[in-house]
Amino acid sequence: MSTCLEPIRGEELLFLPLAAVPWYFAGERLLVVIDPRLAEDFGPFFSDSPILIVPEGEKAKSWDSLSLLFEDFLRLGVDRSWKVLAVGGGTVSDLAGFAAHLWMRGLSFSCAPTTLLAMVDASLGGKNGIDFRGYKNALGSFQRPERIFCDVTVLSSLDPVQFASGIVEAVKHAVIDGESYFSFLEALLADGGGAEAFSHKACHPESLKKLVTESQRIKTGIVDADPLEKGGRRVLNLGHSFGHALELETGLPHGYAVSLGMALALRYSLSKGFISQGEASRVLRLLEGFGLPINLSILADGALRSRVASSLYMDKKREGAAMNFVLPRGIGRVEVAKVPVEELRRFLEEAWR
Ligand SMILES: NC(=O)c1ccc[n+]([C@@H]2O[C@H](COP(=O)([O-])OP(=O)(O)OC[C@H]3O[C@@H](n4cnc5c(N)ncnc54)[C@H](O)[C@@H]3O)[C@@H](O)[C@H]2O)c1
Repeated sequence: MSTCLEPIRGEELLFLPLAAVPWYFAGERLLVVIDPRLAEDFGPFFSDSPILIVPEGEKAKSWDSLSLLFEDFLRLGVDRSWKVLAVGGGTVSDLAGFAAHLWMRGLSFSCAPTTLLAMVDASLGGKNGIDFRGYKNALGSFQRPERIFCDVTVLSSLDPVQFASGIVEAVKHAVIDGESYFSFLEALLADGGGAEAFSHKACHPESLKKLVTESQRIKTGIVDADPLEKGGRRVLNLGHSFGHALELETGLPHGYAVSLGMALALRYSLSKGFISQGEASRVLRLLEGFGLPINLSILADGALRSRVASSLYMDKKREGAAMNFVLPRGIGRVEVAKVPVEELRRFLEEAWR
């Protein structure tokens, strides 16, 4: 059993049809946490276990949802012999992982991610948590799940925006890792219909499996080297400094905001001569091909630019007057540098032109 005494042990990744996951826990006391939309389709797979339904989307990550889960744990007499399984996207696993970590100082926790974002990012690395008074992920802990069960066939029911939220993280992983994964993603784009007509529904399940495997390998490798985010893990923030600020100030979907954040980081690196035009264009073409926005004209609005710049000052990655900013230097080359926030603000004033 994973307990808080071993919060940063790496997870075991398994590709398994979702319908077969209950068999994995045969004979054990399993609690399933799921949202209402997914409960309709996937709940029946888990008919032998109590199913705890939490609100759909970001509303799941609230103090009230956490408290209601604990009420259910109490009602069911959950003790440390129980195992918790989150079935769903990143919101469900963030909430359920946090609840599992807190209850009786730590229950065994696993997840069956059903969004691409959760498969390639949210279920990995052990960060969990909830929002508090509008402050995203204000409360949380590090506890890596014991097992992650992936069934890529469930991704076919994702809408394109939700798929894009996951693919942007995969592109980020490829920029961090290098040519081999990057060119695989270019081939995946072609398999899915090419830049003009990409649809993830046209991608072969084996290609999606490889996508998830490679992204998991890259993220897990980075997290293993820096489980508590003291240094090296910061490269995973590529595109997220501007991305989070844009998400907050415009309400754009997370994946779209991170794509624009990557476009800004590339533009900033270009302005410094850190990356060649050819490599920057290749990354931008890939993002755009997957249907992600790269056009910075949204920043023509001066009031928005000011709000985005103010948000940068509130960023967790800021230390004093400087930001730990991830600079793309090429495909397979990124670097975390301390960049004055004031310099980033001035850059924003010009970047959209
Ligand atoms: N812990 C981490 O390291 C980490 C990393 C990245 C993101 N996150 C968190 O993840 C959350 C976002 O997660 P998300 O993007 O997975 O969104 P989500 O969990 O909100 O799910 C989005 C929507 O997709 C639906 N859905 C899920 N699977 C589906 C499927 N197979 N078919 C059709 N619909 C499906 C859900 O019902 C929901 O309506 C954010 O709260 C973010 O903070 C956490």
